[in-house]
Amino acid sequence: MMTKTRRAGITAIGAYAPSKVLSNDDLSKFMDTSDEWISTRTGIRRRHVAADDEFTADLAVSAIKDMQRRYGEAVLEGVDMVIVATNTPDAYFPSTAAMVQDYFGLKAGAFDLLAACPGWVYALSVAQAYVESGICKKVLAIGAEALTKIIDWNDRSTAVLFGDGAGATLVEAVEEPFGIKSMILGADGAGGKHLHAKAVGKCLLDGTKLGEHVYMNGSEVFKFAVRVMKTSTVEAIEQAGLKTEDISLFVPHQANLRIINAARERLELAEDKVVVTVDEYGNNSTASIPLALCHALDGGRIHAGDNLLLVSFGAGLTWAASVLTWGGGKK
Ligand code: ACO
Repeated sequence: MMTKTRRAGITAIGAYAPSKVLSNDDLSKFMDTSDEWISTRTGIRRRHVAADDEFTADLAVSAIKDMQRRYGEAVLEGVDMVIVATNTPDAYFPSTAAMVQDYFGLKAGAFDLLAACPGWVYALSVAQAYVESGICKKVLAIGAEALTKIIDWNDRSTAVLFGDGAGATLVEAVEEPFGIKSMILGADGAGGKHLHAKAVGKCLLDGTKLGEHVYMNGSEVFKFAVRVMKTSTVEAIEQAGLKTEDISLFVPHQANLRIINAARERLELAEDKVVVTVDEYGNNSTASIPLALCHALDGGRIHAGDNLLLVSFGAGLTWAASVLTWGGGKK
């Protein structure tokens, strides 16, 4: 007798963006920039910024509370693993995930995952593996980021791009036809020199000196992003056994509207099939896709049975793409 394959899917979601908002005009009051430059080069108009006493664990907790508000407090019952994907953990240790586990009193394992902006998609892949292998039943895969804490506010070429926020997803077994259909993960460490932020080290293995804050070679990252958004999404669609026309909604990493549009055009997707939130939030790294998913759900743009195409890229350099069929959860 054939055994039925267990498939993992997202069954609940929540998101949070800090209440403090900085518009492009606000930035132009203390740095040499303008709304015109930022919005035409990036599509960003505002970003949400964590308060001085608000950090990554706080943002993650708020996203989970939003999930509870949507699905009821019992949604966390039986969670047996917490993964927080972040580039801005509150501490080297304990993990931000352990803080979240403790806050909600979960009987669960907990760890952080660092894979730059695609971190939440990487966390989704780990959650998928845990659920499909039977190691875990209910996994919280969270992307949470307090990036504005590590930005050099004197560097206008990076400071205008980033924001803070969090998105939380619950991953568990779902019935066909729902769930995660493909997962493409990649890295090219040779590109580490183009985008980095210092921790305890002095330099990368190739000798590139690490700066105190986020360093980015914007044009190199731009070229890499446009290339990898196309190649990885094509692979993800193929691995799912689908065609581009089967994709209901494209939910890309929200870094730059020009990068999103270039990827959309290369995939020949209509504009109304793309979720864009970069105007409101800027690039909040690991939080960007789950936050965009929440936004699209609230806007009535996602329905059970829809095939969603996700893609992200970032420091490493890393990338991740996935196709999933939405639904199979409680809501
Ligand atoms: N305001 C005004 N002028 C600026 C600003 C600013 N905020 N920032 C840079 N400039 C100036 C530069 O100094 C330069 O001036 P110059 O010509 O006199 O030297 C000019 O604007 C043009 O700069 P470019 O770098 O050529 O601008 P470009 O069109 O490439 O856009 C940008 C820059 C927006 C950073 C783009 O390269 C980009 O989006 N790259 C990808 C970034 C990205 O997606 N990062 C996500 C990483 S994900 C992660 O893991 C963190």
